[in-house]
Amino acid sequence: MSRIHRGTPRNLARLARLLRAGELVAVPTETVYGLAANALDAPACRQIFAAKGRPAHDPLIVHLHSLAQLADVAEPNADALKLARKFWPGPLTLVLPKKPAVPDIVTAGLPSVAVRIPSHPLFRRLLKLAGVPLAAPSANPFGYVSPTTAQHVQSGLGRKIRHILDGGPCAIGLESTILDLRDPRGPRLLRPGAVTKSEIERVLGRKIRGPKKRAARGVAQLAPGMLARHYSPRTPITLHRRRISRAAVEQGTDRAAWVFLAKPQGVAGKNIFWLDPHGALPGVARRLFHLLRRLDEKGFARLHVELASGGGLADAINDRLLRAAATVDGT
Ligand code: TXA
Ligand code: MG
Repeated sequence: MSRIHRGTPRNLARLARLLRAGELVAVPTETVYGLAANALDAPACRQIFAAKGRPAHDPLIVHLHSLAQLADVAEPNADALKLARKFWPGPLTLVLPKKPAVPDIVTAGLPSVAVRIPSHPLFRRLLKLAGVPLAAPSANPFGYVSPTTAQHVQSGLGRKIRHILDGGPCAIGLESTILDLRDPRGPRLLRPGAVTKSEIERVLGRKIRGPKKRAARGVAQLAPGMLARHYSPRTPITLHRRRISRAAVEQGTDRAAWVFLAKPQGVAGKNIFWLDPHGALPGVARRLFHLLRRLDEKGFARLHVELASGGGLADAINDRLLRAAATVDGT
C-alpha cells in the first residue's frame, strides 16, 4: 500500500525531493487528485502511464507554479495570457504549442501541450519546492471515476504507487475545463469544467466553439454504444433528463439506486440518494464522483441518476455523467 502523507513542511520538502529524483507522488488539486511526476523527466512520466494503465496516446496535463514558468513549456499567445490572468491559479487548462523541453511522452507525441496553474495550497507549495513543472493526469486507474480524496487514490492505485499527499476532499470535484488555443479559427472547448464557456467568452470578448464530437449536442442524440465510456463506475447507469418521479421509484426494485440532484420530497428508503440538499450545482459537482464510488461498492444492479440543467457547471456535470452512463432514459 502507498503511504498517505499529511502536508507538513517536512513531508512537503521530502515529497518535492522525491519528485525531483524521478518518483511519482499523488497530489491533491482543487479539481481531482492527480498522479504527478517531473514533467521534464521522460522516464518519470512513463511510470505514470504504467501505474494508471493509461494508453500512451492519451497526453498529460502539465502543472506550473507560476506564470514565469509558462514560456519554458509552451508558446503562449494573447488569448492565453488574458485567460491566465483571469483564471489562474484555477481549474482551467490551456492547450498551446509546446516547447522542446517537454518530452514526447507527456504530449503523446503531439506538437501541443496542456498546461494549468492549480490553486490547491498544498499542491502549490509542492510545485514551488519541486521547482519543476509537474505532469499529472487524474490519479485513477485508466477509465475509472477520478479520485476526489486521498482514500480514493489509495483504493485505486495503492498497490502501484508509494506516496500520496493528503489535501482533504477536492473543493470542485470535477476535472478542469480544457480549452484549445492553437486553432487560428478561434478557441475550442475540449472539456467543460468549473470555468464555464460563457465566462471564457466574456474574457475573450468572442464566442468559442464547443467540443468536436458529442457533449455539446446534448442527450437526445446519444445512443448506447455511441458513448465514449470513461469516468465509469462498474454499476450500469441510466440517466434521467427530467426529475425522477415518485412513481418511477415505487415501480422500481430494491436493487436499483435512485440519485436525485436535490433531496427529494416524499420518497425515502435505503436506495434513495441525493447529491446536494438543495440541488446547488457546486455541491452536486463536489460530491458526484464520491457518491458514484460509494454506490459502486453497495452492489446495486443499476443506478438511476438525474441530469443537471441550466448550462455552465451543469454542462460539466452532465458531460461526466454521459461518459459514465451506458443508456439514457427519456423519462
Ligand atoms: O483537473 C484536471 O484537469 C486534473 C488535475 C490533476 O489537474 N487532471 C486531469 O487529467 O483530469 P486527465 O486525466 O483528464 O488527463 C489529461 C487530459 C487528456 O486526457 C486530454 O484530454 C487532455 O488532458 N490533454 C492533455 N494534453 C493535451 C494536448 N496536448 N492536446 C489536447 N488535449 C490534451
Ligand atoms: Mg483522467
